[in-house]
Amino acid sequence: MSKHWSYKLDDNGIGWLHFDHLDSSNNVLSNEALEELGNEINEIEKSVPRGLIFISDKKGGFIAGADVKGFVGRSDANETEEYIKGVHTLFQRIEDLPFPTLALIHGHCLGGGLELALACRYRIARDDDGTTRLSFPEVRLGIFPGFGGSVRSIELLGPMVAMQNMLSSRALTGRAAKKIGLVDQIAPERQLKQAAVDLITRQPAPHTPTFGQRIFKINPLRSLLAQQMEKETAKRVNREHYPAPFKLIEHWKQHGGSKSAMYKSEAHGVAELLTSSTAQNLIRVFFLQERMKSLGKGADFTPRHVHVIGGGAMGGDIAAWCALRGLRVTLQDREAQYLSNAMQRAYKLFSKKLKRPHLIQAASDRLIPDHKGEGVEKADIIIEAIFENVEAKQTLFKDIEARAKPDAVLASNTSSIPLEQIATVLKKPERLVGIHFFNPVAKMQLIEIVTSSQTSPDEAHRAAAFALAINRLPLPVTSSPGFLVNRILMPYLLEAVVLLEEGVPAAAIDQAALRFGMPMGPITLADSVGIDICLSVAQKLSETMDVTVPAILLKKVDDKNLGIKTGRGFYRYQKGKAVKESLPDSYKSPDDLTDRMIFRLLNEAVACLREGVVEDADLLDAGVIFGTGFAPFRGGPMQYIRDSGTTQMKQRLERLNSAHGVRFKVDPGWDDLE
Ligand code: NAI
Repeated sequence: MSKHWSYKLDDNGIGWLHFDHLDSSNNVLSNEALEELGNEINEIEKSVPRGLIFISDKKGGFIAGADVKGFVGRSDANETEEYIKGVHTLFQRIEDLPFPTLALIHGHCLGGGLELALACRYRIARDDDGTTRLSFPEVRLGIFPGFGGSVRSIELLGPMVAMQNMLSSRALTGRAAKKIGLVDQIAPERQLKQAAVDLITRQPAPHTPTFGQRIFKINPLRSLLAQQMEKETAKRVNREHYPAPFKLIEHWKQHGGSKSAMYKSEAHGVAELLTSSTAQNLIRVFFLQERMKSLGKGADFTPRHVHVIGGGAMGGDIAAWCALRGLRVTLQDREAQYLSNAMQRAYKLFSKKLKRPHLIQAASDRLIPDHKGEGVEKADIIIEAIFENVEAKQTLFKDIEARAKPDAVLASNTSSIPLEQIATVLKKPERLVGIHFFNPVAKMQLIEIVTSSQTSPDEAHRAAAFALAINRLPLPVTSSPGFLVNRILMPYLLEAVVLLEEGVPAAAIDQAALRFGMPMGPITLADSVGIDICLSVAQKLSETMDVTVPAILLKKVDDKNLGIKTGRGFYRYQKGKAVKESLPDSYKSPDDLTDRMIFRLLNEAVACLREGVVEDADLLDAGVIFGTGFAPFRGGPMQYIRDSGTTQMKQRLERLNSAHGVRFKVDPGWDDLE
């Protein structure tokens, strides 16, 4: 008797194998589910139905993939290879069944789920508004498809199409999957089952790749194509930091001529990757993301109407994002011109993201300019994003509290004013919570949920639920200067500017950060954010932290060289692109260049943890990865310290302190880590 699978034979003699993973909202191929699947196949093999259909009983989708929990902490490559070979054998038995097999796909069909579907002779996907999604997300976790998927997808689609999909982790709708031959047919929900029965009955020849695709399997064309793929991948990804896509290409290049060699190499290659620190850290990041999402669950709050006050750079974009995500939004500003600018930017966002005219129209209809602020009385959540001025914010909140629904969430997007100060004017200061977005709103996944000592935990929970409702990751932080992300990022940025003042070329500084694994160099980052904004955050933080504002920042702002937006900052820009001079071959950067920047960040992270700005080290890592892009393959600053040896890291910081002085003073929090 299976816990997760149930088998039924219908009147046509076709077997239906239902998957409904117990105790889990999504179907995952856990060890137990795989073992049971083996037993089910034993029985079905004996009964020889006319055909076998795999179907999921979960509303959300077919199968979300392998059970990633089972990947955590894997360090034995041989043992992992044996586990993978076991799954290969099982899926091969499914492929070899002497009757037609079919995967009936709705919703998510990811990773191992898609690989199981590929072991079937046919696949049918639901034709819907895009909720059906097929993809190989493995590369994002630092591995590549390991349940036979790298072999079968190439057999089915040809190397070019299959590799493109595996390398990009792109998600395909049913329709897009049909176009490339990944599924044989698409059908609307009501016809899905009948379509499956028809296909099993008709048994047409399965899809095969075109001659033009097949030809690339043969050498030397295979080698040539592989080289090309490698070149393209190297433009996007650093091989040392993220080896998985390169290993996938190499695996096909070496063994693409023989299926059996491909299976062997897949098991070996994936086992090696999965047990590496990169994959283990990326898997960790996956769970950190899940943890942040869980913080927004369980609140009895479904926001439908959000009222945003202040239609400037942030408020306008926050309003647009909320409308894009399906909320009704009223946007208030005291100046009509800001509202019309915000509406224009919103329209651009909707067009880019939604593409289809009726969807763009619907999103535009959800965003309502509200000069008089009438939305305050009806909204479920009110977000203030006016300029950074405490009196102006106080006046506004006094009025909001008097007019808002008694259970509406009252939030400020302030980046530096303590909530306690704003809340002094409120009758119920416990209602005020910070919802701190990052710029650009449409790109940055993180939102800091800021609480003061007065904020009620219920309000913070509801604010986190709001973040989740607009597809953002909530990170609870305390209302201390700079909260978490800006506070940690600023010393790193300032050190980069100090290096610049010392004469280190901007390009050398940026390159060092990229080599460490940051998504963008700090000098480019300062130019993108705006040097004026960096200066104002730095000045604000220097009031409470031991940071000195480098003179060059003030000079740039005086000269109105503010970065990309003015065409000149630390770099000069032509058509929005930095003109970077290449470094002379003889140039040698200081030995401690990277350490100087990174250790200021790490030291601040340790200080934040000691002060309790975030609840624990995991949430700190999550915040810094999703708020700054800190090298995900290193698993976050605290994980990086742990991985590199806390004592050795502290010693490196002490050396920097001796060489460069007080800004590297070792935070007392290091002692708690050892
Ligand atoms: P902004 O200057 O671009 O926009 C402010 C808007 O508020 C203007 O359109 C102004 O007309 C309007 N406004 C001012 N007083 C008002 C009132 N009493 N009633 C209605 N509208 C009023 O400012 P920005 O950059 O959008 O910042 C807004 C808030 O977001 C600030 O608290 C800032 O600290 C915070 N923030 C800014 C970030 C950034 O990168 N710019 C990032 C995260 C937070």
